[in-house]
Amino acid sequence: MRIGILTSGGDCPGINATIRGVCKTAILNYGMEVIGIHGGFKGLIDLDFEVMTEKSLTGLLTMGGTILGTSREKPYSKKQAIPGVDKPALLKANIEKLGLDAVVCIGGNGTQKTAGKMARAGIPVIGIPKTIDNDVAGTDLCFGFHTAVSIATEAIDRLHSTASAHRRVMVIEVMGHKAGWIALYSGMAAGGDVILIPERPYDMNCICQAIMNRMQRGKNYAIVVVAEGLPTPNPGRAGEYIASTISEVTGIEARETVLGYTQRGGSPCSFDRILATRMGSHAVELIAEHRFGHMVAVNGGDITSVPLIEVAGNTRLVPPDHELIIQGQHMGVCFGK
Ligand code: F6P
Repeated sequence: MRIGILTSGGDCPGINATIRGVCKTAILNYGMEVIGIHGGFKGLIDLDFEVMTEKSLTGLLTMGGTILGTSREKPYSKKQAIPGVDKPALLKANIEKLGLDAVVCIGGNGTQKTAGKMARAGIPVIGIPKTIDNDVAGTDLCFGFHTAVSIATEAIDRLHSTASAHRRVMVIEVMGHKAGWIALYSGMAAGGDVILIPERPYDMNCICQAIMNRMQRGKNYAIVVVAEGLPTPNPGRAGEYIASTISEVTGIEARETVLGYTQRGGSPCSFDRILATRMGSHAVELIAEHRFGHMVAVNGGDITSVPLIEVAGNTRLVPPDHELIIQGQHMGVCFGK
């Protein structure tokens, strides 16, 4: 068989480890040929590709980013349509031209949605979920998430001492537009006093009261972890709004730190390397069994798969009564109300 592989959407640690898992399993175990498509779906439209060999895989396990490159190209999107260009037809024709028996699409929610549309158009496709946000429906986990949580946790750990030295409130804004998984996990791992996620409503008076109560208990600083997607009345950054409001209401100095793209860059942690490897390898097993139209997924501790049509368009949010939230509340953490 000859298969194609592409990476689409925002990058995250572990993509290259997945590419390695797919290519090594395909080439060494199944004797398949692998075509690496450059720049996500754009490369399929422009026919920009390379033939993957064992040599192309050197050093990939630990490398951040994606050697194939990525883009936000969505071939079925009306917003991205170009007059006179039938992107879906071009995509299908180019897959046939390249003689691909299957296409592996590594990406987040948008990519899996596109993969679902390809499957519906009769293209043999396999999805592999990736995002630091951990918000792809149909899987318990995406690689990249644990690395991002470790990076955020280490950064928050470092803010405790400077917060204490200056008797300040430190507000740390982490990634997560719709889902607050990174904020919840890094906030709990780094001993946050207030953790705010988009899935839960919040009240600034409760937050300020929680901080003042902590100060009255003899603590001279506080750590507030905020997901970037937290809705606020202002158009600016969520962290900025939370920090300035805390300062205004409590009179305590507050500072904001935005972790941004540091959470997405660099080498994957060992957990993500293993997860990426398992997912990549399983994608090829599905192809060998001709089980197309599926996305590789984690269910409990097992690697399994789900039909792409069950995934498309759904976001995996933090349940507002998630066990970790309840346990955090029992330990005095404020989750906004
Ligand atoms: O990968 C997901 C994510 O990291 C979001 O949390 C973040 O806001 C977004 O991607 C930003 O990505 P970009 O600026 O590359 O579109």
